[in-house]
Amino acid sequence: MSEPVRVGVVGMGTVGSGVVRVLDRSADHIQRQAGRPIIVEQVVVRDAGKQRDVAVPGNRISTDLAAVADDPAIAVAAMLVGGLEPARSMTIELLRKGKDVVTANKALLAEHGPELFAVAREAGRSIAFEAAIAGGIPIVAAIAECLAANRIKSIRGILNGTSNFILTRMEEEGSDYAEVLALAQAEGYAEADPTMDVDGTDATQKLALLAHLAFGSWVPWGMIPRVGLETIDQELLRFADELGYRIRVVADASRGADSLAMQVGPTLVRKGTPLAETRGAFNAVSVVGDAVGPLFFHGLGAGELPTASAVVADIIDTVVGRAAITFRTTGMLEADTPAASLTGGSSSRYLLRLHVTDRPGVLADLTNVLGSEGISIASVIQHQTAAGTAAVPLVIMTHSCEATAIARAVATLDQQPAVQAATSCLPVLDD
Ligand code: NAP
Ligand code: HSE
Repeated sequence: MSEPVRVGVVGMGTVGSGVVRVLDRSADHIQRQAGRPIIVEQVVVRDAGKQRDVAVPGNRISTDLAAVADDPAIAVAAMLVGGLEPARSMTIELLRKGKDVVTANKALLAEHGPELFAVAREAGRSIAFEAAIAGGIPIVAAIAECLAANRIKSIRGILNGTSNFILTRMEEEGSDYAEVLALAQAEGYAEADPTMDVDGTDATQKLALLAHLAFGSWVPWGMIPRVGLETIDQELLRFADELGYRIRVVADASRGADSLAMQVGPTLVRKGTPLAETRGAFNAVSVVGDAVGPLFFHGLGAGELPTASAVVADIIDTVVGRAAITFRTTGMLEADTPAASLTGGSSSRYLLRLHVTDRPGVLADLTNVLGSEGISIASVIQHQTAAGTAAVPLVIMTHSCEATAIARAVATLDQQPAVQAATSCLPVLDD
């Protein structure tokens, strides 16, 4: 039998536990895929005394990274510690000590990718990161390898499982936001700091990495316009439903003549379309290539085993040499990577939800603001409320207009004396 490949698992929380479990329970199958047995040689965690529901092989558990980095028998490190530090320093240490790295940490790659990929190149090692984007969906391999013949025109998707889980539970069961967030944390979907999930940071970091793979240029994630789901409440979900839509946090990137349009935020998606039917911790990615046309990927974007599926596939790819080839051919964040310029967003229909004083002339004032920006109204909803109600909800659906025009209009609307709270403004997708 061929010599086994020894792996170090650095971080054994939700994802690391899944990796150890899958490598153990599917050992024979994985051996056939890799041509050699793959065994976990060493686990590194923060607290070696913590009670765990996965047995650590041979009880080889340490809090010292050197147990992996300095062991010459270990060829591959699965870096499954979240956050930026010490994850960044640990990854650099592993690469410099000659380990190929597989990671699920998109925050780390989005923030420190240029440095980490450069260190990997200097060290002659690879970094594989399928699990960092859309969990179990093989979107990195699809774009980097299977769609290599295509000039990608656009990528659109639901890239954060936690926020999709929260939104669909609020929508389908009327659940309370805080209660469902706690459930997402208990299921292992959320980041250690769930703010990253709900404020759109996580989806934006994934979009920056995907856009780099697809379009070749690099947009630092912090430059991408981003809105979180904290702005979504039951009233907005009910209005969306009444109009025939669901609300999803959609990440969008498309190629223009010499720029990219990119944004992340809550969006109305028409009921019955694939994005609207993406529920719970599922993610979805639609990609349009110039040769292949439209493609749609759907699968679990977070959670122990779906994410482990991607990590273990990357470990196998590393063992058989595919990861090194992909790492070289994709040229991730090489020094000459062009910086893309962002446009102000493409045209769309928009839903506006305002809370306004219920008195004569208010609707005329508001529609004048939209009219002065050249924005045409498609429909208006105001339900009758009890006399004397201080602020009534008013929903306006526009015809297609420029993102810059609607942004100016919302800023002006929010200054009107009749407008009692910040206006919600969501783009609308009909296909
Ligand atoms: P997690 O459950 O919080 O686990 C983190 C692990 O890292 C724990 O085992 C922890 O040790 C260990 N750790 C933390 N600081 C350490 C240190 N200084 N030295 C050694 N070990 C340290 O996180 P997770 O959910 O598995 O996520 C891991 C990464 O995968 C993150 O980057 C996340 O964004 C990404 N990811 C997660 C999912 C998901 O569904 N959860 C999906 C895709 C990608 P202890 O166990 O001793 O505390
Ligand atoms: N917290 C992330 C999510 C994990 O909910 O999508 C997967 O990257």
